[in-house]
This record gives sequence, structure tokens and C-alpha cells, in this order.
Amino acid sequence: MTIITFVQPSGSKATVEVTEGLSLMEAALHNGVEGILAECNGAAACATCHVVLPKEVYDRLDAPEDHEEDMLDFTTADRQPCSRLSCQVSISEDMNGMVVHIPGE
Ligand code: FES
Repeated sequence: MTIITFVQPSGSKATVEVTEGLSLMEAALHNGVEGILAECNGAAACATCHVVLPKEVYDRLDAPEDHEEDMLDFTTADRQPCSRLSCQVSISEDMNGMVVHIPGE
């Protein structure tokens, strides 16, 4: 199991224990984390699962696919250098203790 903390724009935090292999979006939804709407259910077509990862985690992951880049560019008001669609990020053991920020869009 991997421990992940989601931080809301208000600063409130939710720390959850999740199974490796789930997407970050699924982990948030399964644990009732607010701010992750996932309207397209993980198809990378809505950007309502936008999160900002720690730089060290972002840098370890494969680069976003073109369609994810497009969604982040055109549908998020608050894209940041380490922004990702959480539905496109699989949880791995080396993410244990990761703190993920949910932008205030
Ligand atoms: S759930 Fe729609 S883009 Fe991630």
C-alpha cells in the first residue's frame, strides 16, 4: 500500500492509503477526495482530475502524451510545470508519502 496526501486549495489535507496500480484519480475517488471530479471517467478528455505533483515525482514519470498535454493546455486555468491529469498517473510504491496539490480552478 502507498500513502498519498491530497492538499486542497484551502490547504486542508486528506491522507489516503491506496493500492499500487490504481490511477491517482481512482485513488482520490475511492477515498472521497474533494476536487477530483473525473467527469470523463479517466479518458483524458475532461481535465477535471487535474493535479500538481511534486517535481521529483513528475520528473520520474514518462512525459505526458500529446492528448494529455493538449487537455492541460486548453482546459485548465491553472496549469503549472508539474501539472498532470491524475487519471493518467499510475500509483507506484516509490510514490509512498507523496503530497499532491489540487489546483483551485
Ligand atoms: S478523468 Fe477526465 S481527464 Fe482525467
